[in-house]
Amino acid sequence: MHDGSGRVVVQNLTKTFGQVLAVQNLSFTVEPGTVTGFLGPNGAGKTTTLRMLLGLVTPTAGFSTINGQPFHHLGNPGRVVGAVLEAQSFHPGRTARNHLRVYARAVGVPDHRVEEVLHLVGLTDAAGRGPGGFSMGMRQRLALATALLGDPQVLVLDEPANGLDPEGIKWLRTFLQRFARSGRTVLVSSHLLAEIEQTVEQVVIISRGQTMYYGSLDDLRKSQRSRVIVTPSDPAALLKALQEAGYAAIEQLPDGVLAVWDAEARQVGDIALAAQVAIYGLESRHADLEQIFFQLTSGQFAGRPQ
Ligand SMILES: Nc1ncnc2c1ncn2[C@@H]1O[C@H](COP(=O)(O)OP(=O)(O)OP(=O)(O)O)[C@@H](O)[C@H]1O
Ligand SMILES: [Mg+2]
Repeated sequence: MHDGSGRVVVQNLTKTFGQVLAVQNLSFTVEPGTVTGFLGPNGAGKTTTLRMLLGLVTPTAGFSTINGQPFHHLGNPGRVVGAVLEAQSFHPGRTARNHLRVYARAVGVPDHRVEEVLHLVGLTDAAGRGPGGFSMGMRQRLALATALLGDPQVLVLDEPANGLDPEGIKWLRTFLQRFARSGRTVLVSSHLLAEIEQTVEQVVIISRGQTMYYGSLDDLRKSQRSRVIVTPSDPAALLKALQEAGYAAIEQLPDGVLAVWDAEARQVGDIALAAQVAIYGLESRHADLEQIFFQLTSGQFAGRPQ
C-alpha cells in the first residue's frame, strides 16, 4: 500500500523522444501543505514530466512516486491523485453533469459528489450544457471538477490558468491555497512565473529538461543581488569615494549614472555626503522575479541549483 504522505518524488527522471532529450535527470520532491509551481518556458519538459508522473509516458530512466508508490501501484489512483493535463477533450454529446457522472462511476464515488464538485468550481448553472459550447475557462473548470471527484490527496495541474479570466485566476489561487492548507499536495505548472507567483510558495524551475532552481520563492528572491542606482553631481568623485569605502562592483552607466552592486541606498547617500558630492537621484533596485526567471531559463545565469 502507499504511505499516505501525499509526497510526490521525482528522481533522476529522463525522457528522450528519438533525438529529442525532453527531460534530463530531473529530481525534486513536492511536499504536502504548500502549492508548488513547476515552471519553465515552452518545450522545457513540464508536460512530459507530469505525464511520466501520472503513468502516461514511460521514462527512459529514473522514476517517480506518489505517496511512495509508482502511479501504477496506487490501486484506485483517482482517489489519490487528481490531474488536469493539457488539451483535455470531452465527449461532445454529453452534458457537463453527465460527463462527471461517468467519471464518478469510474472513480467509485456517488452521484452527489458530482453536484459537490460542480458547486466547487462554480459550474452548477452550466451543468446541463455540453462542454462543446463551453468557453476555454469553463472547460478548465470542468477538467478541474473531474480531477476533484475522488477527493484526492494530490492535485497535479498542467497550466490550469490558461484561458481563465482574472476572476477565474483569483478563484483558482484561493482554491489551490485552501486545498494545500488542508494538508494536501498541489503541483501546478506554468510557463509564466507572474501567472502563479502569488499562488505558489515553492518552485521547481526547469529549462531544457533540467532543474535550474528548486526551493522557496522567497529564497529565490533573496538570492538576488541588489544594486543602487545613483545620479551624482560629480560621478568621478563619487566613484572614487565608493571604491575607497570598499565597493568594488560599480558600473558606470550613461549620463553620469552609477550602479553600485551589493549596496544600500543609505550607505551610498552617506558616502556621497562625506565626499561632498550632491545627489540628484538615488534608487535601490532588486531584480524582479520575472527577470530572475528569464535569466534562469535562458541559460545566461548559472543560478543556485540545489
Ligand atoms: N510525444 C512526443 N514525441 C516527440 N517529442 C515530444 C513528445 N512530447 C514532447 N516532445 C518534445 O519534448 C520537449 C518537451 O515538451 P513538453 O511538452 O514536455 O514541454 P512543456 O514544458 O510542457 O512546454 P509547453 O509550455 O509548451 O507546454 C519538446 O521539445 C517537445 O517537442
Ligand atoms: Mg506543456
